[in-house]
Amino acid sequence: MNNVQVHDKEFEILLENDSINKRIRLIGIQLNVDYENRCPVFIGVLNGSFLFMADLIKEIDIACEIGFIRVASYHGTESVGEIKEAFGLPTDLKDRDVIIVEDIVDTGQTLKYILAKVQQQEPASVTVCSLLFKPAALKEPIAELNYVGFEIPNDFVVGYGLDYNGLGRNLKDIYRAV
Ligand code: IMP
Repeated sequence: MNNVQVHDKEFEILLENDSINKRIRLIGIQLNVDYENRCPVFIGVLNGSFLFMADLIKEIDIACEIGFIRVASYHGTESVGEIKEAFGLPTDLKDRDVIIVEDIVDTGQTLKYILAKVQQQEPASVTVCSLLFKPAALKEPIAELNYVGFEIPNDFVVGYGLDYNGLGRNLKDIYRAV
């Protein structure tokens, strides 16, 4: 498989589409068993999760609902740090089983923020399903991270929904910076 160039960086293959799809099929089977008769709400975190959500949801054969949210980050003053804001979070999650679908968990900051927002609504349960996870980059453990596609090294990756400055989301496979 050839290396690809995105903006000024060169990337090499990390995960081929075939193995991504195989892994997603297995996660789907697991979710079908774990959520039988529970009608969970899948919430995808845009933009990165759009392809993962599309492929994952095709493997789900129990009744379920699907939505998406967007999280914006603002770099505040140093004392405040990074401020985040979520758009489009459903407001009717009380007593529901929520499954947050992420492309990648890196430091875990985004996920912590989303989890806090979701918990405020007192859902019956919350779990996280992330295609990729960089354990070495995680700042603090996240108990809700129960479904992970692949644990990967602490490298910057693109493809299959993930971008480098806006480009690369359309690549079928996942590549890492060389
Ligand atoms: P976190 O808050 O540090 O966990 O980062 C989460 C978000 O940062 C992800 O949802 C991605 O949008 C982005 N991100 C983190 N690592 C990468 C990467 O290697 N490639 C592309 N985007 C990334």
